[in-house]
Amino acid sequence: MNRKQFIANLGLGAVSVSSLLSAPWTSPREIQFPSTDSWSEIQKQFLPIPNTIYMNNGTMGITPRPVLKALQESFELVAKSGYYPSDLKTIKERLGPLIGVDTKTIAITKNVTEGINIACWGNELSAGDEVLMTAHEHVGGCAAWLYRAGTEGIKIKTFTLGASAEETFSNFKKALSPKTKIVAVPHIPCTIGQILPIKDICSEARNRGIISIIDGAHPLGMIQFNITELGCDYYAGCLHKWLLAPLGLGFVYLRPERLANTKIHNIGAYSLGEFDMTAENPMNKNLVDETQRFSAGTFCGPLYDAAVRAIDWYMAVGPAKIEARVKDLTLHAQTELRKMNKDIHVLTPLEEKSRGAQTTFSFHNKKAPDFLKYAQSFNPKFILRHVHEGKLDAVRVSTHYYNDHEQIDALMEKVRGFVKG
Ligand SMILES: Cc1ncc(COP(=O)(O)O)c(C=O)c1O
Repeated sequence: MNRKQFIANLGLGAVSVSSLLSAPWTSPREIQFPSTDSWSEIQKQFLPIPNTIYMNNGTMGITPRPVLKALQESFELVAKSGYYPSDLKTIKERLGPLIGVDTKTIAITKNVTEGINIACWGNELSAGDEVLMTAHEHVGGCAAWLYRAGTEGIKIKTFTLGASAEETFSNFKKALSPKTKIVAVPHIPCTIGQILPIKDICSEARNRGIISIIDGAHPLGMIQFNITELGCDYYAGCLHKWLLAPLGLGFVYLRPERLANTKIHNIGAYSLGEFDMTAENPMNKNLVDETQRFSAGTFCGPLYDAAVRAIDWYMAVGPAKIEARVKDLTLHAQTELRKMNKDIHVLTPLEEKSRGAQTTFSFHNKKAPDFLKYAQSFNPKFILRHVHEGKLDAVRVSTHYYNDHEQIDALMEKVRGFVKG
């Protein structure tokens, strides 16, 4: 829209929100990536963490140099020019194909929790209706449901994760009841990191008229998946873990049929097509016909720019290559840990289809926090995560492609030392 049309629109009273927000800005996105031929070349693209072996990507991904550069450039531009970011489209156009969905079915969020809240509060439930979950939920995946259980009397039921995808699916089916209205489960739980049989779960739910809401905090950037093929109704993910975008970015997917039936609780610019406060009876008649209606207000443009660069970087390294690499690393960790089964219990299933980039284990006779302290007492120290969810007392090793076999071997040596001590 040119200036003349813009003024004409103002004269008519009805103003297009997107046109008001647009700025004459094109982000410099020509990318000159360094070599991605070998893992050692790729490792050089991460800033060294002094005296540390970082194995907690499941909490937060570290930022590769090209992504950090995009972030810095973009923030600098905002600081110098007052540039007001308004481009919601580019990031969605890059993200959509990566996760197998149409751009119009996703909205960018701050994090997974926000996406879960959109799905949770968007669906009306009555006291006594059941929501089926796992006992291994992250607080971000379950807090909204727990609140509704406390305030509205909905019932939360849980099922147990099995030692294989088949066993998990069987446990899930047994826990369904005629009162189950929603299934809200993680694609990959934060606890033991196995890939759940989400396609089977969603298909079973759909056949019974149950809504499926998937907490997808972990898969993006770790494994290849296609949300349309998974067949869920909602999927909430984030970009700051395995995709290695800067922190503070997520997305939510709504199956197109759910759009009209999902109530919006946070609405603003980007949700509306037009508005007219001068009308006799001002009201909204024009919500955008896409998931973007859940995006309200000013957003952090430099994060979006950097996330686009993170996607470019992910594609340059290679999604299939990354998936094979992270699975190989967890196979190595699991194989070594299982040799210590006298002292250790490996909680993550070994089977290939369930194995992702995380391995969780507990000690038969020792406490996990004591091991975490022990592992931090060395130089280099190991950064791992304690798993308390599901009443586990376990250690999670979450390794990305920037980790390697030697680092895992070094960790194993510490585990052996700890169980002997
Ligand atoms: C399985 C799972 N769900 C939800 C979350 C919460 O994510 P966020 O902090 O992006 O809302 C996490 C974070 O680690 C997680 O592991």
